[in-house]
Amino acid sequence: MSFCVAIDGPAAAGKGTIARAVAAHFGFAHLDSGLLYRAVGRRALQGENPLEAARSLRPEELDDPVLRTPEVAEAASRVAAMPEVRKALTDFQRAFARRAGGAVLDGRDIGTVICPEAEVKLFVTASDEVRARRRHAELLERGIEAEFEDVLADLRARDARDRERAVAPLAKADDALLLDTTELSIEAAVNEAIRAVERRYGQGRV
Ligand code: CDP
Repeated sequence: MSFCVAIDGPAAAGKGTIARAVAAHFGFAHLDSGLLYRAVGRRALQGENPLEAARSLRPEELDDPVLRTPEVAEAASRVAAMPEVRKALTDFQRAFARRAGGAVLDGRDIGTVICPEAEVKLFVTASDEVRARRRHAELLERGIEAEFEDVLADLRARDARDRERAVAPLAKADDALLLDTTELSIEAAVNEAIRAVERRYGQGRV
């Protein structure tokens, strides 16, 4: 049986950390769907047609640390606005969401488009400043030089593009639980997410 946890939200809201922790806690598989768009964005930066890139992605490409750079994030949000690119990545994500044993997917449209029937939906957010501070620290930790003001501006521009695009825009599903992590430690946010999953998982849906 399958069990899907859909985690959406704007850039650097803590989706990835929460998704990884929930997956580890319940023994579910985890897909960071942003990596798919980042991998396509990266290939587009190298001059490749984004649709062809989306149709020929290889799993090992998703592990490349270069995908974490701000330039690739920006390119990802541009290719993510292309309906054909999104379509080319849909089947893979839907199959992942329904794999046996449970799955956690994080992204922008998991609870609205990829898995609208997900057993648990979370929408993770935080203030712009808090998100930019976290992303800035994360980039420095990875050895990527960046100014805080640039990180904040990039994140706002990317969120605006993600919210305003015509296809699968960033949006909270009506039935998603809102998790505002502005004043919540990551441990507290993870605990809340785990409790939300337990409420459904306890009903033996897997
Ligand atoms: O890590 P961060 O939250 O900054 O970004 P990400 O989740 O890696 O996503 C990078 C970009 O991919 C986003 O800005 C979106 O434009 C796009 N994306 C999307 O459109 N749909 C998804 N399900 C996941 C990411």
